[in-house]
Amino acid sequence: MTETQFTPRVFSGIQPSGNLHLGNYLGALKRFVDMQGPEFQTVYCMVDLHAITVWQDPDRLREKTREVCAGFIAAGLNPEKSILFNQSQVPEHTQLAWIFNCIARIGWMQRMTQFKDKAGKNAQNASLGLFAYPALMAADILVYHATHVPVGEDQKQHLELTRDIAIKFNHDYGVDFFPVTEPVIGGPAPRVMNLRDGSRKMSSSDPSDMTRINMTDDADAIAKKIRKAKTDPDALPSEVDGLEDRPEARNLVNIYAALSDQTAAQVLAEVGGKQFGEFKPMLAELAVSKLSPISSEMARLMGEEAEIDQILARGAERARAIAAPILQQTYEIVGMVGAGRS
Ligand code: TRP
Repeated sequence: MTETQFTPRVFSGIQPSGNLHLGNYLGALKRFVDMQGPEFQTVYCMVDLHAITVWQDPDRLREKTREVCAGFIAAGLNPEKSILFNQSQVPEHTQLAWIFNCIARIGWMQRMTQFKDKAGKNAQNASLGLFAYPALMAADILVYHATHVPVGEDQKQHLELTRDIAIKFNHDYGVDFFPVTEPVIGGPAPRVMNLRDGSRKMSSSDPSDMTRINMTDDADAIAKKIRKAKTDPDALPSEVDGLEDRPEARNLVNIYAALSDQTAAQVLAEVGGKQFGEFKPMLAELAVSKLSPISSEMARLMGEEAEIDQILARGAERARAIAAPILQQTYEIVGMVGAGRS
């Protein structure tokens, strides 16, 4: 199968659970926004149906779904250029997921490390949805015939499974129907680490708020968290090699680089030799100038629920216009009577 038969289309999903923090901004939202342009059609989805594979409080789920939408818009997503919506408004995702449940093998699912991590010791008591999660994720992607999927390193295995599902479907039915999707991993986006412990990822579930910068933090909070971030006593190196075994220093340099659209090497060429006492205020100033306009725009949008809901409804309508014919063709391939009439 050649890739050129498919429209270049980017799809990615983000779970509306937990607070959005700098790691989500640099690793997902900013990256997704930067992919908007003539090269790809960009489709982004708040995966509320994935979120409920573990219990979610309904009011909080609604709030978080709207918050992620506000985060996207505040980060520069143009809802006319990109398609932005929440998963449950496009039923074709779950319809295709059922077909994929019948393609994917139990053994494939049992190998998923995210399932093992999330289910923990008591896997018998995890939801069936958590087990089937990767088949729904494959459906999210393939119901748009998406060709490129930007994700973090932790989602690589799920994308390989998506490719396996596409290949097995095409093989079992003797068609060239689903594209074999390319993962777009990493790229310029760094892994953003915990501000108090550079060996752990920044996370919305850490009990201490000082470990992360939230996308809703105001200028004072951002500056304070950077001032108090853990560092080491040495000056900054002039080259990236010098950051080895200095996880906290590396993290702050990476954050500076990502926020200023530079590489770590470029940043070190400028700040190598400086002490943290000098570098931290530079980073704080940069972070405040980039992030506080986003947090105030998010706060404004969160007060405009009707505006957000309208963006999501419109996005869902545009998403369905792509997904519905692909689902119909899938039904037809599989042999469902009544499919293919239109
Ligand atoms: N599983 C992804 C995560 O936890 C979220 C997700 C769901 C996703 N569906 C997707 C990402 C489709 C990319 C494409 O981060």
